[in-house]
Amino acid sequence: MHLFSAIFLLLMLSLVPCEALYPSPEEGWQIYSSSQDVEGKCLCTVVAPAQNMCNRDPRSKQLRHLMEKVQNITQSMEVLDLRTYRDLQYVHNTASLMKTVDSRLKMASDNPRTLNPKSFQELKDTVTQLLPLLPVLEQYKADARMLGQLKEEVQNLSLVLLAIQEEMGAYDYEELRHRVLLLETRLHSCMQKLGCGKLTGVSNPITIRASGSRFGSWMTDTMTPSSDNRVWSMDGYLKGRRVLEYRTLGDFMKGQNFVQHLLPHPWAGTGHVVYNGSLYYNKYQSNIVIKYHFRSRSVLLQRSLPSAGYNNTFPYSWGGSSDIDLMADENGLWAVYTTIPNAGNIVISRLEPQSLEVLQTWDTGFPKRSAGEAFMICGTLYVTNSHLAGAKIYFAYYTNSSSYEYTDIPFHNQYSHISMLDYNPRERVLYTWNNGHQVLYNVTLFQVITNAED
Ligand SMILES: *[C@@H]1O[C@H](CO)[C@@H](O)[C@H](O)[C@H]1NC(C)=O
Ligand SMILES: *[C@@H]1O[C@H](CO)[C@@H](O)[C@H](O)[C@H]1NC(C)=O
Ligand SMILES: *[C@@H]1O[C@H](CO)[C@@H](O)[C@H](O)[C@H]1NC(C)=O
Ligand SMILES: *[C@@H]1O[C@H](CO)[C@@H](O)[C@H](O)[C@H]1NC(C)=O
Ligand SMILES: *[C@@H]1O[C@H](CO)[C@@H](O)[C@H](O)[C@H]1NC(C)=O
Ligand SMILES: *[C@@H]1O[C@H](CO)[C@@H](O)[C@H](O)[C@H]1NC(C)=O
Repeated sequence: MHLFSAIFLLLMLSLVPCEALYPSPEEGWQIYSSSQDVEGKCLCTVVAPAQNMCNRDPRSKQLRHLMEKVQNITQSMEVLDLRTYRDLQYVHNTASLMKTVDSRLKMASDNPRTLNPKSFQELKDTVTQLLPLLPVLEQYKADARMLGQLKEEVQNLSLVLLAIQEEMGAYDYEELRHRVLLLETRLHSCMQKLGCGKLTGVSNPITIRASGSRFGSWMTDTMTPSSDNRVWSMDGYLKGRRVLEYRTLGDFMKGQNFVQHLLPHPWAGTGHVVYNGSLYYNKYQSNIVIKYHFRSRSVLLQRSLPSAGYNNTFPYSWGGSSDIDLMADENGLWAVYTTIPNAGNIVISRLEPQSLEVLQTWDTGFPKRSAGEAFMICGTLYVTNSHLAGAKIYFAYYTNSSSYEYTDIPFHNQYSHISMLDYNPRERVLYTWNNGHQVLYNVTLFQVITNAED
């Protein structure tokens, strides 16, 4: 009984924080789900960047370890039980032999003369038949030791569980088990399908560093594996050519361990993006997009974005030649800009990263000069209504349905002048350059997932 309640507790504990409606950020729980929905729909809110947060959380890891231990102990006890039963049978069967030996020995000691060579041989034979009992008894001894160990382990676990239980209060285990199993199923289906969703919130900002000029741009790769931690910084918005590459975010914070790339052509604006090891940026005084490969330190490609405005003709509200904004999300590489035929309204083009060809274009109808900044998440363009204090995420354009809606998602514009705002799908974080400060925001994505059975 002890073991089973232990298992339930562990299951519950490994899930409750994920289920909590108000996960505390200190705990690092990033994914939570609710089983409220009666229609078999699993509601799942993701606080990015959290896809594996539940797995990575040390508490969860510890619990999984404990759970495995309980399972191992249960298994060992079953094995032990089986073996003990089998051995008992054997001992039972040899009991009659024992009795024979015993009576012969008694007879021999009562009357030593009856112990002739024949009867001595008989006695020896009977004892020989008993020899297999020795390893069985040896096994018993080993099993007894193991039982002692298991007992100690269970006692240790019970202490841990007791502490956990005290922390959590008493529960009805049957009901709990039911809830846990239900939740586990749903959570699994949620975790598997997590990925894209609709932006519902932006966290408080974290200032990573305060360095460089008022306007600029900084980023990590939006697509390479997470082992690539390099950070790139591009100070200023006009005619710059110097890109600093830091080994890690920590180095970037301290301003150490960087190499410099001198671009063969200067940039305009702050709408650069690093995608799959290459920097994509807008060439100064042109609507040309350049693909610069960091490792080979060479320009792989340049291509003009057809009829895109440039040279501060159609910038975001803050100016700065921010005519052409390149970005990447879960779906790939994008250019956000406008043209004269589009009357200055924001246009989104999906680009082929190898050729920079335009694959498809959407006209959002939102005037670019009225936009503070724009970023793309899961194929949806989010536009802020200002670069100044009080800015909010005001407009969303869904490329999947070619439709838009007005939104009202506030965010804290701490330093009151945002000159760059981009989403990194790998980290699920917003990167901003705010008045000489390099700032990050987490995002909350919301998605409705159909249940595991589908
Ligand atoms: C459980 O047993 C497996 C197989 O014997 C072993 O690899 C694993 O380390 C054990 N886990 C724990 C937590 O003791
Ligand atoms: C039980 O806990 C004690 C004290 O922490 C430790 O020394 C002992 O090795 C543990 N026993 C087992 C079987 O894990
Ligand atoms: C389009 O994408 C948004 C955001 O990811 C999502 O909420 C919506 O359901 C999608 N619409 C269609 C028609 O797929
Ligand atoms: C990323 O770059 C590598 C070579 O550097 C290339 O083989 C691969 O196709 C690229 N992936 C994408 C999605 O562009
Ligand atoms: C870009 O704008 C500057 C200043 O407004 C102007 O002097 C220059 O001729 C323009 N260049 C092009 C290529 O449009
Ligand atoms: C985002 O959330 C993670 C996990 O809670 C946290 O470690 C990180 O500091 C947060 N980043 C920001 C910018 O809030």
